Amino acid sequence: MAKEIIVLPGDGIGQEIMNAAIDVLTSVARKFNHTFHFTQYEIGGTSYDKYGEPLTDGTIDACLEADAILLGAIGGNKWDALPPHLRPEQGLLKIRKALNLYANIRPIKGFAPLLHASPLKESVIQGSDIYIVRELTGGLYFGTPRERREDGNVAVDTLLYHRNEIERIVEKGFESAKLRKKHLTSVDKANVLESSRLWREIVEEKSKQYPDVEVDHMLVDSAAMKLITDPASFDVIVTENLFGDILSDEGSVLTGSIGMLPSASLSDTVGLYEPVHGSAPDIAGKGVANPLGMILSAAMMLRYSFHLNKEAEAIEAAVEKCLEEGFHTADLKIKAGKQVDTKEMTANVIRNL
Ligand code: IPM
Ligand code: MG
Repeated sequence: MAKEIIVLPGDGIGQEIMNAAIDVLTSVARKFNHTFHFTQYEIGGTSYDKYGEPLTDGTIDACLEADAILLGAIGGNKWDALPPHLRPEQGLLKIRKALNLYANIRPIKGFAPLLHASPLKESVIQGSDIYIVRELTGGLYFGTPRERREDGNVAVDTLLYHRNEIERIVEKGFESAKLRKKHLTSVDKANVLESSRLWREIVEEKSKQYPDVEVDHMLVDSAAMKLITDPASFDVIVTENLFGDILSDEGSVLTGSIGMLPSASLSDTVGLYEPVHGSAPDIAGKGVANPLGMILSAAMMLRYSFHLNKEAEAIEAAVEKCLEEGFHTADLKIKAGKQVDTKEMTANVIRNL
């Protein structure tokens, strides 16, 4: 199989972890007889420094032509003072919209050797395996008007959803649940918000097409609570953009290590894969960043975009083996075992492939 992959390392530790993912993918290609071709473009603050904007049309065009996209991380205090439309985050929002990446998938599953680092008791976190399906191109982050009024003293954001935007993400939720434990939790705020009432109506309609999937509706405040008191009770969570942003960050720390979690952002034709963690400017350039979230995102790319399940499993198993062998980067806070840097960790994953 031959594939064109666009890599967008972005800011902070982005380049270091991207190099790690490319090395692992190159090794997988050699082992399984594929050809992966990588072309690098800029996004975020790095793009701003070079071109004066966080995402250029050239990068968007390249991504539209690609078989899949890998993204490192964006942002950093260096660009905090920029006007809102030039901030690195806008690059991310813009690429999601331009590529119509409406479905953000964040699986939250712990690795046994790391569970002791969870902020929750091991007895509470035990057995949890959550799959968050977040709507990514609508809602409060994109609705207009979005502006200041009355000399800046009034601020307006708009939470707007069209029926078809809700339908397609809710379908993704049901389809995902069908392949897992057949339990879908739809999270909304239907006791207050009109957009949530439409959301809930659509979930009810769709549920008729998925009689084997059990559906719960949960208000977002209560879901936030349940996520830390009983995480094992969830299977698939489907929710709108803002709620998904917040709940997925909350979920990401449950397993003891945000540095391990991958994500996929999917349209009907292309996927962008990135770790859930940020750009960690404090350790950028030191070669000590944890590359495993990025490497596991590359595995997700193989599975979702290229349907290379065996190859994806090989990467996941290699990562797990490294942890079992006691290898860990500084962020993982394991006392026993051997602390290694980014390159050593990557070499160990490749050795275990
Ligand atoms: C994420 C991030 C982004 C979001 C920011 C950087 C715009 O927090 O991917 O969750 O809120 O969507
Ligand atoms: Mg977020």
